[in-house]
Amino acid sequence: MEETRKVLYSAVQPTNSLTIGNYIGAIGNWVRQQTKYDCFYAIADMHAITVRQTPAELRQKTRELLALYIACGVDPEACVLYLQSSVPAHAELAWVLNTFTYVGEMERMTQFKDKSQRHAENINMGLLDYPVLMAADILLYQADVVPVGADQKQHLEITRDIAERFNNIYSPTFKVPEPLFTEVGAKIYDLQDPAKKMSKSAENPNGSVFMTDDGDAVMKKFKRAVTDSDGEVRYDEEKKPGVSNLLTIYSAFSGVTVDEAVKSFEGRGYADLKEATGEAVREKLVPIQEEQRRLLADKGYLDGVFRNGAERAARTANKTLEKVYRKVGFYKV
Ligand code: TYM
Repeated sequence: MEETRKVLYSAVQPTNSLTIGNYIGAIGNWVRQQTKYDCFYAIADMHAITVRQTPAELRQKTRELLALYIACGVDPEACVLYLQSSVPAHAELAWVLNTFTYVGEMERMTQFKDKSQRHAENINMGLLDYPVLMAADILLYQADVVPVGADQKQHLEITRDIAERFNNIYSPTFKVPEPLFTEVGAKIYDLQDPAKKMSKSAENPNGSVFMTDDGDAVMKKFKRAVTDSDGEVRYDEEKKPGVSNLLTIYSAFSGVTVDEAVKSFEGRGYADLKEATGEAVREKLVPIQEEQRRLLADKGYLDGVFRNGAERAARTANKTLEKVYRKVGFYKV
C-alpha cells in the first residue's frame, strides 16, 4: 500500500511584482517540496483586497502569478494549484474561526500594525482579519507544513493557536501545522537598506529585485547594492548585513552553500561578489520570464489549470468545512 504523504500548503498574494525574496523564501522552496508532500499552492486574491486594488490589474496579476508558479517549476499535475476566491470554503471557515479569535490578538499582529501605518486611510476589517483568513486557508487542507518566509512566522503561530483552541473546545478537528523555513534566505533584505525586508511594495525600487526585471536591471541593482567599508567578503549578519544578504542571494541562486560562497570569494572584492550575484540571479530569471510569457499567451491552458485546481481544492476543503459545521452545531437536513 502506498504510504500517505504529508500535506503542504502555501500561498502568495497577486499584488505588485514578486521579488526574488518571494522566490527564495517561498516559491523556490515549493518546487523542492513538491515531490515529498501532497501540495496545495494558492493565489491569495482574497488577502490581496485587504489593500485597495484596481480590478483589471488584480485579474491580470492573478494570471501572471499562476504563469509564474508554473514557470518556476511548480507542476500543476503534481500539485493542486488554485485561486483562493474560487473555493468558497475559505470565506466560510474564516467566519467560524473569527468566533475563536480575539480582537486583541489581531491588533497585536506586527503586519497589521505595519500595514495600518502604510494604509492609514483604509484600516478595514479585512486587514485586521487577514491572519484568520490565512488560518482558514491552512486548516481547511489539514496541512502538516507551511513553507513561508520569516515574516509569516507570527501568522503561523496564531494559526496554531486557533487550531488548538478549536480542537480543545470540541474534539481534534484540525491538524496543527508547522512552519517550514528555507535553510538560507527565509528573510531577504532590501539591497539599498539591508535593515529592511526586501518587499514588493518598497519605496525605493532599486532595493528590490523583481521577478520581472530584465537582465540589465538585475545587474544594475546588484552593482548599486549597499555594502560596507571593511572590504572583506565574510558572512556576519550583524556587522555586515549588506554583504551577508548578497552571499545569501548568491547561495540561493547558484546552489552552493554560504560557506562555499565565502571561500570562493576569498581575496576578492565586493565588486566581484555583486557581479557574480547579479549573474546568478539573471541566469535563473531570464528563462523563467520566457516561460512565463509563453504560458501567458495560452489563456485556455491557464484557465484549465484554475478550473481543475478549484475542483480538486474544493473536494478537500469541503470535507473539513462539513466537519466544522457539524461540530459547532449547524443544523443540516
Ligand atoms: P506575500 O505575498 O506577502 O508573500 C509571499 C511569500 O513570500 C515570503 N517573503 C519573503 N521571504 C524571504 N524574504 C523576503 N524578503 C520575503 N518577502 C516575502 C513570505 O513570507 C511569503 O511566504 N500572507 C501570505 C500569503 C498567504 C499564505 C496563506 C501563506 C495567504 N494565505 C496560507 C501561507 C499559507 C503572504 O504574506 O504573502
